[in-house]
Amino acid sequence: MSDKQLRIGLIGTGFMGRAHSNAYRKAPNFFELGMEPVLQAVCARSDGAAAAFAKKWGFASSETDWKALIARDDIDAVDICTPNDSHKEIALAAAAAGKVIMCEKPLARTAAEGQEMVDAVEKAGVANTVWYNYRRVPAVTLAKQLIDDGRLGRIYHYRAQFLQDWTIATDVPQGGAGTWRLDAAAAGSGVTGDLLAHCIDTAMWLNGKIGTVSAMTETFVKERMHSDSGKVEPVGIDDACAFLCRFDNGSMGIFESTRYARGHKALYTFEINGEHASIRWDLHDLHRLEYFDHRDESITRGWRSIHVTDGDMPYMDKWWVPGLQIGYEHSFVHQFADFVTGLAKGETVGPTFQDAQVTQQVCESVLASGKDGSWHDVAE
Ligand SMILES: NC(=O)c1ccc[n+]([C@@H]2O[C@H](COP(=O)([O-])OP(=O)(O)OC[C@H]3O[C@@H](n4cnc5c(N)ncnc54)[C@H](O)[C@@H]3O)[C@@H](O)[C@H]2O)c1
Repeated sequence: MSDKQLRIGLIGTGFMGRAHSNAYRKAPNFFELGMEPVLQAVCARSDGAAAAFAKKWGFASSETDWKALIARDDIDAVDICTPNDSHKEIALAAAAAGKVIMCEKPLARTAAEGQEMVDAVEKAGVANTVWYNYRRVPAVTLAKQLIDDGRLGRIYHYRAQFLQDWTIATDVPQGGAGTWRLDAAAAGSGVTGDLLAHCIDTAMWLNGKIGTVSAMTETFVKERMHSDSGKVEPVGIDDACAFLCRFDNGSMGIFESTRYARGHKALYTFEINGEHASIRWDLHDLHRLEYFDHRDESITRGWRSIHVTDGDMPYMDKWWVPGLQIGYEHSFVHQFADFVTGLAKGETVGPTFQDAQVTQQVCESVLASGKDGSWHDVAE
């Protein structure tokens, strides 16, 4: 490792704050980054929470105001792990201060906000990335490799689902810690920005751009108590969304996401059908890639379940020995490692803000179609 340092300021200490802190710590042990990540400062809204998080994860200092964190000269990179309504303001300030920016997905609440963020990082010339981490699950990266090798041939179909069931109870509130995802003002949208954004990012990475969409959205529980006001208020998010699309390569897509699929906690799956071969992946079995190749000898032809653990498979030479699998947290380690390695070499590593903005535009078209019931071209 070089003695060049990347001094990180993390904002937000919830689910993603923990996942990212774990990644900063593990990446240099397993990857040659060319730069040393330094856990310089963490920002939470209360003094106690910030100091406790700093102690637990090994940050050198803590702040309670993200503006103070960005103003510090000893911070090189800002990592935005707060709810979606703060991404734009923090990113604009970080770009103006010349910081490297890592931002959680979705990039923003709307495509208009996302565009301001893209313009800001481009104007400032700062390196940037958005944490669409599923690209870096080794089995998903292997799927990309197989597609890019042409093994599937022409692609006809892409289908993806992301299913959960945690908001079925009508007494789940909207707004506030833990339930800000149900508050349209904080989240921007419901399952479209939260879950389908992941599916869309993976899909466009694997199968190219989406040109047109036709969607159906539903809000099953129309009113919920708002944690901030204490009053029952209309719900503005999409509880469920299903959409059809056409990719620019001529293939057809079908996507579905809901938080009302009883029995499913985080079932992200996709399947791609090509002329010669098909691929299928399931987050609950994330270290496996299912593969069917019609060119196999007919008497043994069938779906193979590839255990993605061998050293010649993506990322796996960095971990244990063949046969031993890794999990969810490693997708963040991989994204961080790739991004920092790129930074050290002066190379751009996706997904960038611009890449995430294309996903934002698809989400926006999906939501617009869900409202008016017609096909929408994805605006650029
Ligand atoms: N890549 C993924 O798979 C993935 C998974 C979950 C969440 N996310 C994204 O990560 C972001 C955060 O989600 P989460 O699940 O970690 O949420 P969370 O509710 O667990 O954590 C959010 C944190 O932000 C803090 N926060 C809010 N406003 C703040 C402020 N002004 N200053 C400092 N801290 C502030 C909260 O106190 C909390 O610690 C969201 O944009 C979400 O969409 C991405």
